[in-house]
Amino acid sequence: MPKPRGRPVRRRSVLIIGSEALPFVKTGGLADVLGSLPAALARVGWDATLVLPKYQGVTAGARIDACPITVGGWTRTVAFFDAPLGDGARAILVDCPDLFERDATYGPGGADYPDNPRRFAVLVRAALEYAVHHGAPAIVHAHDWQAALAPVYLRSMYASHPVLAGTPSVFTIHNLAYQGLCEADWLPRLDLGWDQFTMDRMEYWGRVSLLKGGINDADIVTTVSRRYAEEIQTPEFGCGFDGILRRRRMDLEGVPNGIDVEAWDPSRDPFLPEPFSATNLAGKAAAKAAVMSRYGLPVNAAALARPLVGMVSRMVDQKGLDLIAALADRLPRLDASFVVLGEGEDRYQRLWMTLAAAHADRIGARIGFDESLAHLIEGGADMFLMPSRFEPSGLNQMYSQRYGTVPVVRAVGGLADTVRDADAPAPATGPRRRPATGIVFEAYTPDALLDALTRALDLFRRRRAWRALQRAGMREDFSWHRSAREYVKIYDRAIKKRLASG
Ligand code: ADP
Ligand code: GLC
Repeated sequence: MPKPRGRPVRRRSVLIIGSEALPFVKTGGLADVLGSLPAALARVGWDATLVLPKYQGVTAGARIDACPITVGGWTRTVAFFDAPLGDGARAILVDCPDLFERDATYGPGGADYPDNPRRFAVLVRAALEYAVHHGAPAIVHAHDWQAALAPVYLRSMYASHPVLAGTPSVFTIHNLAYQGLCEADWLPRLDLGWDQFTMDRMEYWGRVSLLKGGINDADIVTTVSRRYAEEIQTPEFGCGFDGILRRRRMDLEGVPNGIDVEAWDPSRDPFLPEPFSATNLAGKAAAKAAVMSRYGLPVNAAALARPLVGMVSRMVDQKGLDLIAALADRLPRLDASFVVLGEGEDRYQRLWMTLAAAHADRIGARIGFDESLAHLIEGGADMFLMPSRFEPSGLNQMYSQRYGTVPVVRAVGGLADTVRDADAPAPATGPRRRPATGIVFEAYTPDALLDALTRALDLFRRRRAWRALQRAGMREDFSWHRSAREYVKIYDRAIKKRLASG
């Protein structure tokens, strides 16, 4: 390792810490975001380094150096691997085989590995030590509970550190439902004092929440849509954290996620049989035929004329699977076909497999994770279903719009912010409403979902109105540029805030 660099910090440099990112590892949208945000920040002039674990099977990167890391008396030498992320941004992969060479990213079958607190504490310590030796960043940007100890360690063990003292941090919540809970006896094993075990620190109903630590100690807290930033301050969406978040509301902001508009572009998507675009949608029919035949659905004129509903989702409560379960008898009676891809809770996987077996000519279901099939569904489906109970941002409704696939979504979080309903009344005064891009429903009930689907199927038959919806969606700008600039403003504010507080 090079000698510690010491102060001053590198201006306009950010150390990003998180648990998954494309192209290395992905279980959900966090990986899409952390795979594109560093390069987007680089494009607006920031030096961006993302630190994440080097999980089993990740071969990317060149080994640069290594250093011993101790957390709660547990010591290992971790190695750092360097891999480019585009536009001058880089990823640093932390190699610690005892912690990261495992079959699953977070734990077997959706459960947590019991030593997850240690795994991610080591990730955070390794990231901060990397910064000590390779140049102190102007700011640390930590994502979700796995990185939530970064703000906590910066305010505790690094508070008087010769290199990192005074480094401000931003903490982004991608999903408040994952709270990084562990038993209190983890505190000493994470080098945290018992003073953290109080209601206004990290204690949470007799246990410890790492997420709460990040919310408490970051200079600014952000979430991934403006609507979700408001929602999580209410008991309905706060997952028990609404009081904690209201306490921090002056420092809580919603920054909408962007999407990787190069990876998700129907005019040059290698997973589609033919390219298409807003001005020439013809190639979309080939994708529809391709996806139906991948699922073994009949591909004849009648089947192709019927609307195809797609869904790509983690199969968990958050995503509205219980609404679908309640409609299990009624969905097959709609004049539509379905192609579904996902994995998650057993009962929901079985639900879709049973539906597919009973209606093999109309419903196709795949359990598993398959990036190329996800692209083909986005390309080939006519509409895309996201009936989420809550949705911090959601990415698929944006991918869908890029692909002329009309999203049918519930009016929550990022879904409400990024999809405009076809039937919403035009405002009486003020600027003209921008054109509709999808179908949005309010109530979290099976009937409201069925109603929305029926509305979408009716609209599908009105070809001109449908084309208008598709084209309006395809013209939306979901690129990262605007969001990266918002983050940069937030970084500057956090830095100033810290300077002002001495
Ligand atoms: P979340 O992060 O809550 O799962 P998002 O909508 O933000 O929801 O992101 C999910 C991402 O994961 C999308 O890119 C989606 O296409 C992808 N995805 C989810 N399940 C699968 C799957 N089974 N196979 C391939 N991609 C999937
Ligand atoms: C979380 C949320 C999802 C969001 C993603 C990326 O997984 O559930 O809504 O899009 O993070 O921010």
